Parts: sequence; structure tokens; C-alpha cells
Amino acid sequence: MADKPTLTTSAGAPVPSNENSLTAGTRGPVLMQDYQLLEKLAHQNRERIPERTVHAKGWGLQGTFTVTKDITKYTCAKMFSEVGKETEVLSRWSTVAGEAGAADAERDVRGFSLKFYTEEGNWDMVGNNTPVFFVRDAYKFPDFIHTQKRHPRTNLRSPEAMFDFWAAQPECVHQVTILMSDRGIPKNPMHMNGYGSHTFSMWNADGERFWVKFHFKTQQGHKFYTNAEAEKLIGKTRESYQEDLYNAVEKGEYPKWTLYIQVMPEEDALKTPYNPFDLTKVWPHGDYPLIEVGVLEMNKNPDNYFQMVENAAFSPSNIVPGISFSPDKMLQARVFSYADAHRYRLGTHYEALPANAAKAAKVNHYHKDGAMRFFTNDFGNPDAYYEPNQYEGPVADAGAQEPPLRIDGDMDRYGNPQEMDDFTQPRALYEMFTDEQKQRLYTNYAQAMGPCSKGVKERWFAVLEKVHPDYAAGVRKACEELDSDVNAVPITSETATDAEEVNTAPDTV
Ligand code: NDP
Ligand code: HEM
Repeated sequence: MADKPTLTTSAGAPVPSNENSLTAGTRGPVLMQDYQLLEKLAHQNRERIPERTVHAKGWGLQGTFTVTKDITKYTCAKMFSEVGKETEVLSRWSTVAGEAGAADAERDVRGFSLKFYTEEGNWDMVGNNTPVFFVRDAYKFPDFIHTQKRHPRTNLRSPEAMFDFWAAQPECVHQVTILMSDRGIPKNPMHMNGYGSHTFSMWNADGERFWVKFHFKTQQGHKFYTNAEAEKLIGKTRESYQEDLYNAVEKGEYPKWTLYIQVMPEEDALKTPYNPFDLTKVWPHGDYPLIEVGVLEMNKNPDNYFQMVENAAFSPSNIVPGISFSPDKMLQARVFSYADAHRYRLGTHYEALPANAAKAAKVNHYHKDGAMRFFTNDFGNPDAYYEPNQYEGPVADAGAQEPPLRIDGDMDRYGNPQEMDDFTQPRALYEMFTDEQKQRLYTNYAQAMGPCSKGVKERWFAVLEKVHPDYAAGVRKACEELDSDVNAVPITSETATDAEEVNTAPDTV
């Protein structure tokens, strides 16, 4: 006993027993003064925090980013200042729709979040394993997510809702094609790419701005599960990603990704046939080739999952000098949404938690007090608690200001699908697939759409028809062959539309 540390209360006093409550007599009731018992039960009641509204199931690692090529002509961000420079990184990968207890090998888009602890503050890249997204306007995001989550009455996931929404928003077809392709169930995060997806900007020491896309390409190669393989696997383990990642790192098999950027000169944005800030579009590699930047190696399992992964707060608003936003209206909305979610999910001072606190930069701000304020910021002088002040308190650095960006145009709500060309890029993707890949694409659709009403199916086929007639025909045939009219997920309303009545797929290119 002597060599074991003493169990204490959270105030540090020794605990006399961790087994027997304080009672009045051998058979008597518990006394209120057994404060440690009350404390223990109260703590248990507070062990959960709200799970993320999206991307609730996740897996994280710690590691390092190393610069291998000089990109200082595009950015003055210090983390890229010299070849060989290393920056500490926290990663979290996730599925979008499932709850915190969801099975890992489900068909879904995967989140790909990185927090770079740079000397100029934390830079977060909160991306996905897909280069595009379902919708291009933040107004559509909450509705889209509602279709991915549970039906309010059945409390079941609803394929009817998913395809009803997608059929009414054909801009989704690019992302849905990727989701239904082989890349819809990666074997684990080590076998998938990560993309910043949005267009971001970089600026260099001369104040020149460039539009940039980030691509983290897996060095482990792409590997995926078919629906049948995933089904079998989930029967055995629901935690296959956590197991694979944890074990790989414990064995010293550290997963790596090569970071590439695509760079577009600022003025090109006015000339490209597609809107380069539209999140449903890629920049073709032929137009903007990949430029190598460095290597991401994830090589440490966090000592405590809750502390480093559940408490992690990734936000597109976390940028550093030399890296910034773009006019992408989805990105603009995300700049607000994440920190707001973190204040709700983790509390006012979430950025001081170990996962989120800057490691290589010194944090100086004048935010004051509030719940869980467990750090000081008196800057060595208690009088310096406001700004400007006559003492030595921190001051703004005009050198961190990004170069001016010309923005003009009439205020309006722009979203005419006729002008957006939602079909050319998914067509290019579809045409890239081999016959076997196409066949699996069709089967994956058939299995996903099985429970949908005829009306919704027909509306989705009409969208696919605009991508490629063979695509629509292949999915239709697979749906017919599956002959799955069984509504595993009940349609609760009588309003499911007939195909003849509604075809909402706008007629874009
Ligand atoms: P390229 O031939 O240069 O690139 C094709 C890209 O497709 C590669 O990046 C490849 O990724 C990726 N890819 C292959 N299979 C799939 C899949 N099942 N799901 C998602 N991506 C896949 O052509 P373009 O640049 O002209 O693009 C053609 C189409 O490829 C685009 O319309 C888009 O749908 C898709 N794509 C394009 C990307 C881009 O940034 N340009 C990025 C990813 C997809 P990898 O090299 O890792 O195998
Ligand atoms: C998580 C909102 C679009 C990737 C989240 C969270 C919110 C959110 C509120 C939970 C954050 C938390 O509690 O920590 C939105 C909104 C969007 C949007 C409003 C559109 C307007 C996107 C896009 C991507 C993306 C386009 C990828 C390109 C992620 C990832 C996470 C996440 C990876 C999980 C972060 C983590 O690992 O902790 N999103 N999102 N989201 N989102 Fe989004």
C-alpha cells in the first residue's frame, strides 16, 4: 500500500474510503455529510458534453508537418518559411451523419481536420475526404443535415429525405457521385485523401495574393470497403477505424500524407468558366497543377481521447498571417459557425483547453473573466487590462493585415442554377470510372435508394440523366434488379410526389 499514491478529493484531501458510504449504523441510511460520495455521483452526471451536431464520431492522432518544398513565393506564413521546418499537428477524422456511437465503416463523407500549432497561432484546416461539398450556400446546410439525421417521428435515418433533398438541389450530384463511388467507405482514414475543399487565399511577403486549394494525398494508397464487406465488418466490430489507427501508431507504422496546393493567380478568378469559389466545383488539375509542399506524419496516440480529441475545437476561422479566406460564401458562413458551436459545446474558454491552446505562439488577448476562466492575462502589469493603455500591454500588429481585396457588385441573392453548370464536373468524374467502378456505383445507389418512393427515385434519375444518360440508366437498372420496394424506413406522410408531377432538376449544362 505504502508505494501507491493517496486517493484525494478534488480539493486534495485524503479520501478515507472509496467503497463504503458513511451511514448511521450498520443498516442505517447515508449521511449528507458524506460529501465525497455526493461529489463522485455529481461528477459522473457531468461526464458527457454535447456531441458535435455533425461529425460526432471521430478518431484523432497527434503528429508533425514537415516542409519539403519552398512555397515562400506564395505565402509568408512562417510555418512554410523554410524547407525542413516542422510544426506540431493534431488531426481528427470523422463521419458526418452518425452519432458518437456510430459504426466506423459506414458509407459517408469523412471529415479531415488538422490543427497546426504554428508560431503565429493555430491554423486549422477543417476539410473532408472529398474535394467538393453537397451545397454551395450556407442557407442549405441545416436542411441538408436534417436529411442526414433522424426523422422526427420514426427516429430513423431516412433515405427518402436524403434523395428528396438531393433531387431538388442538383448541385449535390458531384458530391453524391463521390459518396456512392468506391471512396464512400474508405478502409480507414489512412487510406483516404484530405481536401481543404474551399478555395482559400495565400499572400506573400510582397503583398501578392493567390487563390489556393489544399490537397493532402495519402501515401498509404486508396483502399475501400464494398457495402458487403463493410456490412460483414460492422457485424464483427463497430470500431474498425479506431482499432486500425491506434494499432498502426503503436506498431510504429505512422500514416503519412503529402500536402500539395493548387495555386490560381488572383486575377484568373474573373476568367475561369466555372466560379472558382463555388464549393461544388474542383479546379481541374490540367488548369492548376498540384504543387508539392510537405509531409504530414501522424505518429502519436493521444494520451487521453476526451482531452485531445473530444475537446478539440477545429475552426475555419483559425487562420495565420499569409493564409486567409476567399469569397466562397460557404466558407464565410463557416467562419461564424464553428466558434459558436465550440462556445456551446465546450464553454467560453474552450481555446485554453490543452487540445486547442496555442503551443508555439504566445497568446495575448484582453477577453476578461467568465465561466472556467482558469488562466491570467495581466501581462505582468495588473493595470494593463484594457486597450489602448499607457502600460506595456499587447498592441495590434498592422503587419498581420492581409493585402486589400477588391470586392464589388450589386447586393442581391445570386443562385440561379441555370448559370452554375452542375453537371460537367460530375460527368468528368463518372467518365473516369472503370466499368467495374461504375457497376459498384450503380449497386451502391440501388442499396441506398431501395427504401425511397418511386417519385423520389424518378426525380433523382432525372438529375443523373443530365450528368450522363448511361449513369441514369445504370442506376435505374440496378434499382430495378434489386427489386427493393420494401420500405425499411417508412415514409410517414402521404405527400411523396409522383415523378409525373414534379421534376425539379433545373436544366443546367
Ligand atoms: P484528373 O484526372 O487530373 O484528376 C482526377 C482526380 O480524381 C484525381 O485527383 C483522383 O484522385 C480523383 N479520383 C479518382 N477516383 C475518385 C473517386 N472515386 N472519387 C473522387 N475522386 C476520385 O482530372 P481533373 O482534375 O480534370 O478532374 C476530373 C474530375 O476528377 C473532377 O471533375 C472531379 O470530379 C474529380 N476530382 C478532381 C480533383 C481536382 O482537384 N481536380 C480532386 C479529386 C477529384 P487521386 O489522385 O487521389 O487518385
Ligand atoms: C463540424 C457547421 C460545412 C467539415 C462542424 C460543426 C459545425 C459545422 C457546427 C461542429 C463543430 C464542433 O462542434 O466542433 C458547418 C456549417 C457548414 C459546414 C454551418 C456550411 C455552411 C462544412 C464543409 C466541410 C465541413 C464544407 C468540409 C469541407 C467539417 C468537419 C467537422 C465539422 C471535418 C468536424 C470537425 C472536428 O473534427 O471536430 N461543422 N459545416 N463542414 N465540419 Fe462543418
